Amino acid sequence: MAKGSAIIVGVSGGIGRALAQQLGQAGDRVVHGLSRTPAAPMEGVTHGYLDLEDETSMAGAAARIAEGPAPSLIVVATGVLHSGQTPERSWRELTAEHLMRDFRINAVGPALAARHLLPLMPRDQRAVFAALSARVGSIGDNRLGGWHSYRASKAALNMILKTLSVELARTHPQAVVAGLHPGTVDTALSAPFQRGVKPDKLFSPAFRLLAVIEGLTPADSGGVFAWDGAQIPA
Ligand SMILES: NC(=O)c1ccc[n+]([C@@H]2O[C@H](COP(=O)([O-])OP(=O)(O)OC[C@H]3O[C@@H](n4cnc5c(N)ncnc54)[C@H](OP(=O)(O)O)[C@@H]3O)[C@@H](O)[C@H]2O)c1
Repeated sequence: MAKGSAIIVGVSGGIGRALAQQLGQAGDRVVHGLSRTPAAPMEGVTHGYLDLEDETSMAGAAARIAEGPAPSLIVVATGVLHSGQTPERSWRELTAEHLMRDFRINAVGPALAARHLLPLMPRDQRAVFAALSARVGSIGDNRLGGWHSYRASKAALNMILKTLSVELARTHPQAVVAGLHPGTVDTALSAPFQRGVKPDKLFSPAFRLLAVIEGLTPADSGGVFAWDGAQIPA
């Protein structure tokens, strides 16, 4: 069966770029890379503009992609952890500005990207909508505390993904909606926090995520999955 196209949102980032590169090199489908900041050219990847804080840019990207093959894979690989704001170590550091910024980029942005991109997905074949989440967004797994804004925005993202999965299952029985935890990956986002990470636990951006996506079935829809394929508690 034809693979259609793939959309990677956030190709200017470490993980988004690695995913687009892998898909582009495979050469078996059209790959649309979208980002706010222009990304360096990649073999087999077209580039388009998308700002998560500008819905018009999302509608424009969706309209252009709709002219070609339907996407069987959409990955939102954007996110923010520290730029301009250090993750909180205590509730004493909570600010509305920090909370709102993380919610805007990590939860609202992917939700609106889904609103504009999900209508492109085929109803009659397997298709995956995945967004990069994080283990720290798991309420059940929260033993360390801290990072209030990032954690809460990822927990909100996980709920958005679950809710999308319930609705999408009614019209797209073969579709999968999932959150992905990539492990600690060597990118700008994790750079300030890599000190205590063992070298064999600091992954390259290309590590395993496509294999995890490949293994997901409609029964998994709504869940969050780690780099090793294991489901993370809500
Ligand atoms: N790296 C890790 O260890 C790790 C661990 C757990 C989870 N994650 C998750 O994985 C995802 C990707 O992280 P990464 O490590 O690849 O980070 P990264 O290299 O810092 O990339 C972040 C990406 O998000 C984009 N972005 C931020 N604000 C945006 C906006 N308003 N509109 C459009 N794009 C925007 C950036 O675009 P610009 O270039 O335009 O700023 C960039 O493409 C994030 O959701 C992160 O939470 C990463």
